Amino acid sequence: MTAASGALRTDQPAARTSRLVWLIAALSVAVGLYGLSYLVGRPAPPGPAANAAYYPWLPIHAVSAGLALLIGPWQFFAAIRRRWPAVHRWTGRTYVTLCAIGGPAGLILALNTSSGDVARYGFLSLAILWMGATAMAYTQALRRNFVAHRAWMTRSFALTFAAVTLRAYLPFSALPHLSFAIVYPLTAWISWIPNLAIAEWWLRSGGRPRI
Ligand code: HEM
Repeated sequence: MTAASGALRTDQPAARTSRLVWLIAALSVAVGLYGLSYLVGRPAPPGPAANAAYYPWLPIHAVSAGLALLIGPWQFFAAIRRRWPAVHRWTGRTYVTLCAIGGPAGLILALNTSSGDVARYGFLSLAILWMGATAMAYTQALRRNFVAHRAWMTRSFALTFAAVTLRAYLPFSALPHLSFAIVYPLTAWISWIPNLAIAEWWLRSGGRPRI
């Protein structure tokens, strides 16, 4: 094996990681903008439209959580952190504030969902874990424990990203023998459990984006 091919091999996982982080960022921006569309009065899909707490909680939730999803991924870019640490700090504070608005609004919506108990407890668990992970991340930053801060922010964003994975599962409701009424309550769980498991595996394997 030549030195050149050895160098190529070491670079490949880094390139893969950065492509994945860019893909995550692009999907987050797309779904984040979808959340912001509530600002211009876009009507909700049938399930959430029947939520007893729709007004004002659904627009508040969609816009605040949508903004959190829009700004969250950029916090993981080491180049931005290194070059503009003040931007990282202020964006981080904004993300935490948006989660502190979007989380309780999501919790109220979860309690009032029209989609049954499976959906209710799935979304409720997600809301509690999301707020908890974000609060832990913020506390660790204040204590200047940046290793724990990074780990909790990774968990927090894996949960924020549930908004993307949930929407990726919805087309399955068009399959024969499945329907929106079956798939939607399941997405309240499968939108975030695998995300959290992957984040945990990634943290334990020492992963970090090399960009
Ligand atoms: C991570 C914690 C989150 C929780 C606990 C949560 C919870 C909920 C709940 C309970 C509903 C109403 C569902 C129903 O009544 O059937 C909802 C709807 C919605 N959520 Fe979230 N959500 C979270 C994150 C996000 C994020 C990050 C976004 C970003 C875009 C988002 C955007 C929306 C939108 C747009 C709706 C309305 C339905 C639609 O238009 O697709 N949520 N959410």
